[in-house]
Amino acid sequence: MQDDGIPALKGWSEAELDAAFAALRSELEKDDVFVALRGSPKSSEEIEEFRLRWLGRKQGRLKAISDAWLKAAPADAKKPLGQRFNTLKALIEARLESAAGSGMAAIALDAEAIDITLPGRRRKLGAEHPLIRTQHEIVGIFQRMGYSVGVGPEVETDYYNFESLNFPPGHPARDTQDTLVVAGQERKPLRERLLMRTHTSPVQIRTMERQAPPVRIVIPGKVHRNDAADATHSPIFHQVEGLCVDVGITFADLKGTLDHAMKELFGSSVRTRFFPSFFPFTEPSADVQISCPFCGGAGCRKCKQSGWIELLGCGMVDPAVFGFVQQKQPGYDPEKISGFAFGMGVDRIAMMKYGIGEIGLLYSGDLRFLEQFA
Ligand code: DAH
Repeated sequence: MQDDGIPALKGWSEAELDAAFAALRSELEKDDVFVALRGSPKSSEEIEEFRLRWLGRKQGRLKAISDAWLKAAPADAKKPLGQRFNTLKALIEARLESAAGSGMAAIALDAEAIDITLPGRRRKLGAEHPLIRTQHEIVGIFQRMGYSVGVGPEVETDYYNFESLNFPPGHPARDTQDTLVVAGQERKPLRERLLMRTHTSPVQIRTMERQAPPVRIVIPGKVHRNDAADATHSPIFHQVEGLCVDVGITFADLKGTLDHAMKELFGSSVRTRFFPSFFPFTEPSADVQISCPFCGGAGCRKCKQSGWIELLGCGMVDPAVFGFVQQKQPGYDPEKISGFAFGMGVDRIAMMKYGIGEIGLLYSGDLRFLEQFA
């Protein structure tokens, strides 16, 4: 051994390298901790010291020796040298790992052998998040009615999020959306400015621009609003949008479709009712209520004693919306075709289905919450 603690190499032949590594190996075998890792317990500090002593990136023995040897090695010796370092390193790592895996059980474990009597390591299985599960369930109901599935961008232009949906600039209905806008867009014309989409409805327009009628599509996705978080509000939430356009689509089709979907989602005894409402992109517009799935309509705390729960918005696509789409797809002639649209909040539905009282739990990543759905 030299003064700096780096063993001297006699030469670069395979045999000489093997001899040098055998010496290193026997040095390792004399290390108390290396031996102890086979079975008898060592403290985690001792094990960590051992790891640093051999494998430490800065002061580890293997690093020092490999630096010195590799620097001195002629080009054709570098590879066999490197391979031997890797083998030695793997040996140490295997020993450390088997110690960690067995919890230092007193089972003799030769580093080169695999002990098939050790219990396997349990890997936690993931499970579908309740929000995504609900989203899949909603989407599946419409797929079984022949709908396709689409997506669109979360960062949207003012044109798609508002103008083409018949929210003119300055229209008061824009104020109801609490829009989060992307900074630094003031120099662009309003319609090109970017914002976080406040609903999935812009994907209606994007879909129709790409596809001539007929269209039957559902669009699940994340939306954003500048809402203060509380038990029922989150600045990020999820919607499923629906759009059906064809020749001769009527409000009766809308009612039948949504009534069927709600029965699939909440059980066949659930009833629906439709109330006049307003959305700029539908005319007429309606809010849909379902009979309270908790009390069957008798009145309870969940439905605030009314027997009904409001769940989604819908309506017949406004001819003005087809007008915007016609700039790219002339087939959307409101004289020839008609359609309906709807939008529902996935978070609300998931909370109702699974009895979740706080929307924030859906975004907390808390395993104690999530494990209940595994
Ligand atoms: N986009 C609406 C919202 O976020 C929901 C909605 C209502 C969507 C009516 C529709 C619809 O497609 O027809 O408040």
